[in-house]
Amino acid sequence: METKTPSARKTVIITGAARGIGLATAHLMHEASWNIVLVDWDAEALEKSAKAFENGIGLVCDVSEPKAVQGMIADALSWAGQIDALVNNAGIADFGPIEETDFERWRKVMATNLDGVFLVAQAAIPALKATRGAIVNIASISGLRASTLRVAYGTSKAGVMQLTQQQAVELGEFGIRVNCIAPGPVRTKLAMAVHTQDIIDAYHDAIPLNRYGQEREIAEAIFFLASERASYITGQVLAADGGFEATGVGLPALRDKAQS
Ligand SMILES: NC(=O)c1ccc[n+]([C@@H]2O[C@H](COP(=O)([O-])OP(=O)(O)OC[C@H]3O[C@@H](n4cnc5c(N)ncnc54)[C@H](O)[C@@H]3O)[C@@H](O)[C@H]2O)c1
Repeated sequence: METKTPSARKTVIITGAARGIGLATAHLMHEASWNIVLVDWDAEALEKSAKAFENGIGLVCDVSEPKAVQGMIADALSWAGQIDALVNNAGIADFGPIEETDFERWRKVMATNLDGVFLVAQAAIPALKATRGAIVNIASISGLRASTLRVAYGTSKAGVMQLTQQQAVELGEFGIRVNCIAPGPVRTKLAMAVHTQDIIDAYHDAIPLNRYGQEREIAEAIFFLASERASYITGQVLAADGGFEATGVGLPALRDKAQS
């Protein structure tokens, strides 16, 4: 893939950056003059997306493969010279009943969503120690609250939140901050593959802001936690979810009352 020489700017690695929330985060941070290392396993989509970045490079890597991850971090370092932030965003969704989630499906979800976050962060630690950098892990509201059909996905994302705290506690003494964003629903390819119309309607009912989020709205929260603006924040989970986590029962009924 074509490389362009970086200048003395901050560098972020974003996994799952070929599209969706990862790509929106890449654009936002690029606009703020960061060098961007876009990482994805979809070589074709990555090549197309990476072209738009003057100070960016696309690296093909499956985040669940330890050797590929080591090579990707080495390539990122030889291109940029330093890593100031890592956004562990690559993820896959698979919704199914517990009895139909066989071990292969379970492992596939865990491999990307949980193993990937562990492996990429671990490989980036030496570089992040050098810059006293930041890690932002992307979980989900499905890791904060259980719903049907999300036995693998929801459990993987709950794992990401605990992993975030483990990383924050252990890496704090090196000045590395580690935080987590738990996005609510966003109309990306990942969500649209598993959100039926019933699920879309149920989310609208359950979200106080009454809508899906946009990629850019999640990217803003990610960028904040990756940046110096969050310099005294570590070990936190921030739900960017339109208020989903805050609400209990009765919201749709209240809305109906307000409209009548
Ligand atoms: N869209 C939503 O509603 C939503 C809600 C909550 C959390 N999230 C989380 O946000 C993150 C981004 O999701 P999105 O909605 O933008 O999805 P998306 O499918 O649009 O993008 C995910 C990207 O990750 C890449 N990817 C998947 N597995 C990979 C692997 N093993 N190695 C490298 N790249 C891999 C895909 O090729 C894709 O480009 C995910 O972690 C997802 O779980 C999304």
